[in-house]
Amino acid sequence: MRQKIVAGNWKMNLGYNEGLSIFSEVINMVNDEVTGAQTAIVCCPYTYLHSLAQLVKGHSQISVGAQNCHQEEAGAFTGEISAKMIRSVGAQYVILGHSERRQYFGEKNELLAKKTDVVLGNSLKPIFCIGETMEERENDRFFELIKTQLSEGLFHLTDTQFAQVVVAYEPVWAIGTGKTASAAQAQEIHAFIRQEIAAKYGQETADDTTILYGGSCNTKNAKELFSQADIDGGLIGGASLKSRDFVDIIKAF
Ligand code: 13P
Repeated sequence: MRQKIVAGNWKMNLGYNEGLSIFSEVINMVNDEVTGAQTAIVCCPYTYLHSLAQLVKGHSQISVGAQNCHQEEAGAFTGEISAKMIRSVGAQYVILGHSERRQYFGEKNELLAKKTDVVLGNSLKPIFCIGETMEERENDRFFELIKTQLSEGLFHLTDTQFAQVVVAYEPVWAIGTGKTASAAQAQEIHAFIRQEIAAKYGQETADDTTILYGGSCNTKNAKELFSQADIDGGLIGGASLKSRDFVDIIKAF
């Protein structure tokens, strides 16, 4: 059975003290209120990773992740953070290929394939983001685009490596806009993603792969989205900055 996950992406928000206090509230609420087997992940700024990882020790339902990493193991890359560093402070996940990284930092599938390798090589799990812009959707180019993002970014992995990957479908037009993909629209793409994974790695691997939806997912729409056959949870931006909302989304399963 594939894992159900709700991951928060704080992006470049929250001060250190505020972040720690929200995260402590999340831990307490999850302990008190969440009974199922789902996993919660919080992907925070690099500088908070160690503190958050310390706080989740002993709380098996909650993990901590980074939002990016450099593609090389180590070296003269002033200002960059390696996968090994992220791992060494206790994080377990790394978001890769977020549309904001693709759009503002020019990250392409080829680079993301390298980042995936270095993340997996350091015993971290990638949350690999894919998704189309509104223009690509309107031009009916989105299936082709999703297929390319998967094949160029992930499909070089071996079966064993791929088993560690979480895929996140985030339509760019739904991110931070308040405009969510309808449950049917999201399900259609999720089913397509699973079908592509099955064609490459076999049905069993596809059935075991967690595919998250991201893009204006909130307390109001999470239940309907998560009830779709191929939607295994969410990657949450804005709503993950409020502990009550984030935990209510986790409880929407
Ligand atoms: P919002 O939930 O704020 O739309 O952001 C989604 C996102 O980009 C998560 O990675």
